[in-house]
Amino acid sequence: MTGVRVSMYRPDLLRGQRILITGGGTGLGKSIGQRYVALGADLVICGRRAEVLAQTAQEFKDTLGVSIETHVCDVRDAQAVTSMMDAIWANGPLDVLLNNAAGNFLARTERLSPRAFDAVVDIVLKGSAYCTMDVGRRWIAAGRKGTAMSILTQSAMTGMPYTVPSAMAKAGALAMIRSLAVEWGPYGIRTVGVVPGPFPTEGAWSRLMPQERIGEAPIEQGVALRRLGEHHELADLCVYLISDSAAFITGEAVVIDGGRWLQGAAGASAYHMQQWPDSTWDSLKPKKTAT
Ligand code: HXC
Ligand code: NAP
Repeated sequence: MTGVRVSMYRPDLLRGQRILITGGGTGLGKSIGQRYVALGADLVICGRRAEVLAQTAQEFKDTLGVSIETHVCDVRDAQAVTSMMDAIWANGPLDVLLNNAAGNFLARTERLSPRAFDAVVDIVLKGSAYCTMDVGRRWIAAGRKGTAMSILTQSAMTGMPYTVPSAMAKAGALAMIRSLAVEWGPYGIRTVGVVPGPFPTEGAWSRLMPQERIGEAPIEQGVALRRLGEHHELADLCVYLISDSAAFITGEAVVIDGGRWLQGAAGASAYHMQQWPDSTWDSLKPKKTAT
């Protein structure tokens, strides 16, 4: 439990901000989009499945009374990305791009086919690059400022067995953020990243958290705060990073993982030591010898 939720944001904080979230029809992208809309943003989402996008748009209309723009687009296809951006710009320029679309699954790397490797890398690395390059090109040509934010994973920093294509692709996306922060900084374009720890979603859990994986060692055990993330916590960070309050932050990726990667770095014994009774700690103290 994270206690009572009190928003620190003005209800109109994002009014006038036009934002595209790739893969915004499901999971974390949907939750972030919901928060953006609630704070007044003009939201656009894209994904490959028209019915998923339509369902999300309807849900936002029913619950928030707001219409959002949807585009069917496979971000692996550079031409499709450009066509989508043309259509988006016809209704008004974007202020923010959120590269959220991803693909991932558990597999032993030596058994991956080239198509399997490409399936992940093309979405995560190339898709993020195609969207960012296209939007950046338009911002630069128009002399507009903008923010391109990308959702990363811990694996971008540390690597990760059994999800090697994703780790490689997210590491590339992190390199893009850092590189473009410098190259596009003079234009007033910020590039930032978010590194979420475990936030349950159907998409991630169905592919990455089979019972065999979590049965004996619940994920929470590997998180310093001993719990999973809640979507509103990630959404709040994603609001801050695109807001004017974060106007001096660029080239940075902010970790929001309850201390998961540091718990991992501390090693398995740290978790066990945290379970030791007082008597074990007491037994380690030097014994007082009678004089
Ligand atoms: C081995 C696999 C595989 C698996 C697919 N392939 N799944 N190989 N193990 N589990 C292989 C296929 O056999 C095929 O290769 C190739 O990958 C392409 O498969 P398709 O099904 O045709 O691909 P496509 O329809 O393009 O789907 C892409 C996908 C799919 C990545 C495979 O999972 C997808 O659409 N994912 C989108 C959503 C998603 O992944 N969400 C989770 C994000 S979570 P061959 O050679 O046989 O033809 C995340 C980090 C979370 O990113 C961190 C949590 C802590
Ligand atoms: P998700 O619900 O499966 O989200 C992935 C989204 O990407 C889907 O809406 C999917 O829609 C879209 N997508 C996939 N391939 C696409 C393509 N080629 N073109 C356009 N859209 C595409 O999973 P999630 O957990 O919310 O993940 C969202 C982001 O958070 C990802 O970047 C992921 O790496 C990151 N992340 C998640 C966690 C976690 O714990 N959940 C942790 C760390 C990082 P379609 O299938 O309809 O295209």
